[in-house]
Amino acid sequence: MEIVVLPSTRDVHATAARIVAAQVRARPATVLGLATGVTQQSVYEELVRLHRDDGLDFSAVTTFNLDEFIGVGRGHPDALHHYMTEHFFRHVNLQADHIHIPDGLAADIDRECRDYEAAIQTAGGIDLQLLGIGEDGHIGFNEPTSSLGSRTRMKTLVPGDRHVITMGIATILQARRCVMLAWGERKQAAVARMVEGPLTSMVPASALQLHPRVTVLVDELAAAGLKLVDYYREVHRNKPAWQRERDGV
Ligand code: GLP
Repeated sequence: MEIVVLPSTRDVHATAARIVAAQVRARPATVLGLATGVTQQSVYEELVRLHRDDGLDFSAVTTFNLDEFIGVGRGHPDALHHYMTEHFFRHVNLQADHIHIPDGLAADIDRECRDYEAAIQTAGGIDLQLLGIGEDGHIGFNEPTSSLGSRTRMKTLVPGDRHVITMGIATILQARRCVMLAWGERKQAAVARMVEGPLTSMVPASALQLHPRVTVLVDELAAAGLKLVDYYREVHRNKPAWQRERDGV
């Protein structure tokens, strides 16, 4: 994992958006894996700005979101589809049939999950997956003890007895590149366990230790629990220009 400690939350958002933008410019038919949550909001805001002011073109891009609530339609205020429409989709030039989010109203949930996996394969796999982390170390809706080999499936959330469809951990690990963002004190412990803790289904994000290309963007507060933080800073300070160019960071 590459750990990049940035001075401010704003830098975390701006850097993530810059990485996505560079990927889309280098390969207009990019397949993006998208996430929701408070963490990603400003990333979308910045991508919308880049689209408006710098002509960042999403017309050939395909997207797959990580997860969706079961039982809500895409226009429902609780739907993650609704979040995506409000924060991103309606502001950029993505083609409607290039957008994929699990259908929370599907009559056959197992089939919907299988079809979602198949659609990712048909699109050629995910080039760049954006991720956030839960305070308990979850990614997508893969809560602690989710199988590290899991694929897209239904999960039951507690408390609240809500049901969701989420990409599995193995699905996420198949993305060619993962960019994980975390900021604020609230995420300190989860970030430390993801990066420096043992690989365990108790911390689903620790599965990213198996992934060959993960960039973790954190602000000072989220980085404060990392034992090797000085080492990460030093490595990044000495990162060769060609690698910075390639990685966008
Ligand atoms: C949610 C989502 C995750 C997200 C995480 C953190 O439950 N399923 O994909 O990364 O929790 O959310 P936030 O960014 O709001 O802190």
